[in-house]
Amino acid sequence: MKVAVIGSGIMGSGIAEVFAINGNSVILYDKYEEALKKGLDNIKWSLEKLHEKGKLNEEPSTIMGKITPTRQLGEFYDIDLVIEAVPEDFNLKAQVFRELEKKVGTNTIIATNTSSLPITELSTALEKKDRFLGLHFFNPPVLMGLVEVIKGNYTSDQVFERGIEIVKGIKKEPIPVRKDVIGFVVNRILFRVFTSACRLVSGGKYTIREVDSTAKYTLGFPMGIFELLDYTGIDTNLFISREVKKRGFDFDCPLLEELYSRGQLGTKAKRGFYDWS
Ligand code: CAA
Repeated sequence: MKVAVIGSGIMGSGIAEVFAINGNSVILYDKYEEALKKGLDNIKWSLEKLHEKGKLNEEPSTIMGKITPTRQLGEFYDIDLVIEAVPEDFNLKAQVFRELEKKVGTNTIIATNTSSLPITELSTALEKKDRFLGLHFFNPPVLMGLVEVIKGNYTSDQVFERGIEIVKGIKKEPIPVRKDVIGFVVNRILFRVFTSACRLVSGGKYTIREVDSTAKYTLGFPMGIFELLDYTGIDTNLFISREVKKRGFDFDCPLLEELYSRGQLGTKAKRGFYDWS
């Protein structure tokens, strides 16, 4: 299958890596040279790690060879699937869809990796809406087993079923989402967990470490809640919370605004709720 991924941030590069590991040829697009380079570096690092552990069927260099980086939004007539993975900003995503629609063939499926925005609302940017669906991966895509496959009001049954098959084809577990609501299934739960954790800390009664210890050692989360916010990115979570709050959903964490204004963007910036240096 030929796949194009739009946006080479943590999610876009991880998604490109997953498709390449599973034998697909991938175009990885980003407008910015630095972002593209960083995305490719992330993939190389991750492939080496997986290779060391004997988890790859091919050499990392062979898999890298399946990924073509580009800064030009090319003609995508022969591409089977395009996945948008740009930051969580409705207007930015809508602009990408409008541009993409001019470049893809009639049979190309267009997917979004949005974490929260309803597919039906996003599809308003497209003329042809029946080939559009959500394919929501989790960070880090290469290690996380689940992908939400989301059907908007206009997604055809055929495209939705194809989405499920595509996810199985990259050896992930698809979770079919037929209720196209903010946050779908996973993040509908997770955003409320984030909000509760932030309120406990903002109230001053508990520390970040206390809340994280509870999540890890009693609730059995693989990471603490604030560790996870740092890991997925303070900016990413802030942008998501702004978009969902506009739509009346309660993902509220004023601490994110504070950290963002200080440039503490999480593990990638070596500082977030924690010091990662
Ligand atoms: N590629 C390859 N290897 C990787 C990797 C990657 N991308 N990321 C981490 N690893 C490696 C680590 O380097 C480490 O290697 P070593 O054993 O050689 O040191 C190994 O994997 C294990 O990593 P950790 O020591 O950090 O241990 P872990 O057992 O905690 O696993 C984890 C890491 C899978 C990320 C786990 O902590 C986890 O599941 N965390 C929760 C992640 C999560 O919930 N993600 C969803 C968040 S929501 C979202 O994604 C998006 C959204 O919608 C907002």
